[in-house]
Amino acid sequence: MAKKYVMLILVFIVMVFFTGSKVTAEEITDYYMDVPKKPLQVMEDLYKSVMSMELDHARKTVRMLDDLYKTYIVLITEEYVDDPSVLPAATLSKRVFKVMNEKGWQKVKLLDATGTPFNPENNPVDAFERDAINAMISGRTYFEKIETIDGKAHLRAVTSVHAVMKGCISCHPSSRVGDLLGGIAYNIPMEE
Ligand code: HEC
Repeated sequence: MAKKYVMLILVFIVMVFFTGSKVTAEEITDYYMDVPKKPLQVMEDLYKSVMSMELDHARKTVRMLDDLYKTYIVLITEEYVDDPSVLPAATLSKRVFKVMNEKGWQKVKLLDATGTPFNPENNPVDAFERDAINAMISGRTYFEKIETIDGKAHLRAVTSVHAVMKGCISCHPSSRVGDLLGGIAYNIPMEE
């Protein structure tokens, strides 16, 4: 009997020695390393989650505007544009984009991807726009980047524009139905 107890006590001591010493050592180092980091870490995590919400929101705005603009561009072309002399949906859209920009909503631009635009104003003008158009040419339909402009994070995104119907070809005769014609570039501020 006594032998059994001695064995049990020994085993117990060995267990406490090994597990106990390991855990406390880790705990102590963790504790001392965590204390000065903690408040910063909390702020960082909070900032990250706010930014990811802002990013989701900005992406949603891009999808919403893209559906809106592309739907009316196609509808206008379908319903009103029967010869190349009438006002094209592209020109009308650019007027809408201008009003949106002036009212401080968000910056939207029409971009060319053919290399021979109707209007040279539609040529990509900076590295982001050129990268986005190159991505479209290689088959992507969406390209985005977060950029800091005047100290504020902005989502810059470009969606592709294709000659979705025959009506497009009457004015863009060097393309075929389905070909890439350009893109719509959005610039959405991520912080209020
Ligand atoms: C009535 C003629 C006409 C039709 C139809 C037309 N476009 Fe255009 N498109 C233009 C003109 C003119 C511009 C240049 C507008 C500007 O920037 O002032 C243009 C510009 C564009 C651009 C910018 C690149 C560039 O060439 O300047 C894209 C992209 C585009 N159109 C796509 C389309 C799509 C897609 C359709 C069919 C849904 C379409 N267009 C139908 C006349 C037309």
